[in-house]
Amino acid sequence: MGGVNANGVMNVESRPLAGQKPGTSGLRKKAVEFAAPHYLENFVQSIFDAVPELVGGALVLGGDGRYYNRHAVQVIARMAAANGIGRLVVGRGGLLSTPAASALIRQRAAGGGIVLSASHNPGGRDGDFGIKFNGANGGPASETVTAAIYACTESISHYRTLDSGPIDMDIDRLGESRLGGMVVEVVDPVTEYANLLEGLFDFAKIKDWLASARGLFHFDAMHAVTGPYAETIFGRRLGVPSAALLRCTAQEDFGGCHPDPHPAHTPDLLAALTAAPAGALGAASDGDGDRNMVLGREWFVNPCDSLAVIAANAELLPGYRHGLVGVARSMPTSRAVDRVAAALDIPCYETPTGWKFFGNLLDAGKINLCGEESFGTGSDHLREKDGLWAVLCWLTIVAERELSPAAILADHWRRYGRDYFTRHDYEGLDSAAAEQLLARLVAELPDLAGRRVGTVAVSAADQFSYTDPVDGSQSSGQGVRLWFDDGSRAVIRLSGTGTAGATLRLYFDRHEPTDGDLDAEPQAALAAVIGATAEVLQLAESVGRSQPDVVT
Ligand code: G1P
Ligand code: ZN
Repeated sequence: MGGVNANGVMNVESRPLAGQKPGTSGLRKKAVEFAAPHYLENFVQSIFDAVPELVGGALVLGGDGRYYNRHAVQVIARMAAANGIGRLVVGRGGLLSTPAASALIRQRAAGGGIVLSASHNPGGRDGDFGIKFNGANGGPASETVTAAIYACTESISHYRTLDSGPIDMDIDRLGESRLGGMVVEVVDPVTEYANLLEGLFDFAKIKDWLASARGLFHFDAMHAVTGPYAETIFGRRLGVPSAALLRCTAQEDFGGCHPDPHPAHTPDLLAALTAAPAGALGAASDGDGDRNMVLGREWFVNPCDSLAVIAANAELLPGYRHGLVGVARSMPTSRAVDRVAAALDIPCYETPTGWKFFGNLLDAGKINLCGEESFGTGSDHLREKDGLWAVLCWLTIVAERELSPAAILADHWRRYGRDYFTRHDYEGLDSAAAEQLLARLVAELPDLAGRRVGTVAVSAADQFSYTDPVDGSQSSGQGVRLWFDDGSRAVIRLSGTGTAGATLRLYFDRHEPTDGDLDAEPQAALAAVIGATAEVLQLAESVGRSQPDVVT
């Protein structure tokens, strides 16, 4: 057993636990796994051990309010005090959306932050929980820091906490208190973030539009963390009636629903839009508020297109009126934004999947807009994707252009052509079978070029690797790419955020020129590349599935 020193710091004996390798965005597991003895504590101590510069400084702490959030905040607070953190800045009730946490780290010049969330994964007692460390820039830890944290989990022998007994600190009252030698500051989770957004957009303009006959807007917070943010920003500051703000009460299990902004999970929003006149704009965000979905009556704006439209209309957005310096997208994201960047004559960077890769580009001022196909869009105002920010971009664009979302997209495609895009997910696969499939594919890559599959032929095939243009760090094995002779592309990778088995993600895209068919259904427009890829992968034989579980 460990001892207790004069300051009440207790050294608790521990040992490395299996399954603490962080994925695309931190450590995500079933909540019951986090509740196992020492599991959370081991990971948190590993953060403090891997990032010693946190000592003496400020640390931001909060999460999306899912089951285990409140308990984890208390555990982490005691450990932070025992590890010499100077000031802990906690969102009231332990709540902070991921973008608000990122903003707060920057606003307070904190050494970093701990964000408690499993993003869009279901919550509740049987659901998922997650923990993520963000650095001083407000963004997800780099691959190097993540690897250092993981290495600490493999050699841990003790963790430090306060011998304060079972008494929890009060996280529901704003203000300062002390925990051991540490100052605890409970802050309103919404105000500073809302102020930041208000400085980037013309709220008066949006408010006028919302009050006009054309200003039809519905938002679905999915009983997740953006509820209180939406009530303040859309409700109180922009005058959206509360009837148009759906599911805004945050709940530990997200009301039993899946907090993933996908049309399949937002039936009430779809019903509200169906009942509304054709020009209505709908939006939703995920469990922790970093993702966004923007939609009209019978369709949603593909996030790849959303990024391109925001880039093309940047001069309408007050915070970006001075122009874009550069843009970035994750590799599987369609190349729609590349065309806008080419027209604007600015660079477009292609990064591996995961927001952390945008951080260096944003810090170095090489880009000020970035996004991923997985419903993530953001800018240099913070270092995470930001769901509500993206919704405000769209509200501004429809208000300024006085066009419906559908007309804005149609106009965009007429100018740049359309990048048809879809993602197919095969979930809950046997991990070994999925890894074997990838390994076999990688081994076959040199022989694939020239191979005819169905109506198309493979013109090139490789594995994506990335050299960070700022610090020169290398990331390899970031997904397989297949190009076909009709100009289409398939990307194949395994998810790094799942908590059960493996998820295989297949991404397909093809550019249709301005004089082509711009109104096709994406699955039909991409049928050739979808079929050819299934054949190259021998999908049915390798993983025993011929149809994806989720089509986006
Ligand atoms: C998924 C998305 C990725 C995103 C991440 C965190 O990761 O594909 O774009 O950055 O969630 O929100 P994946 O499960 O594919 O590793
Ligand atoms: Zn999220």
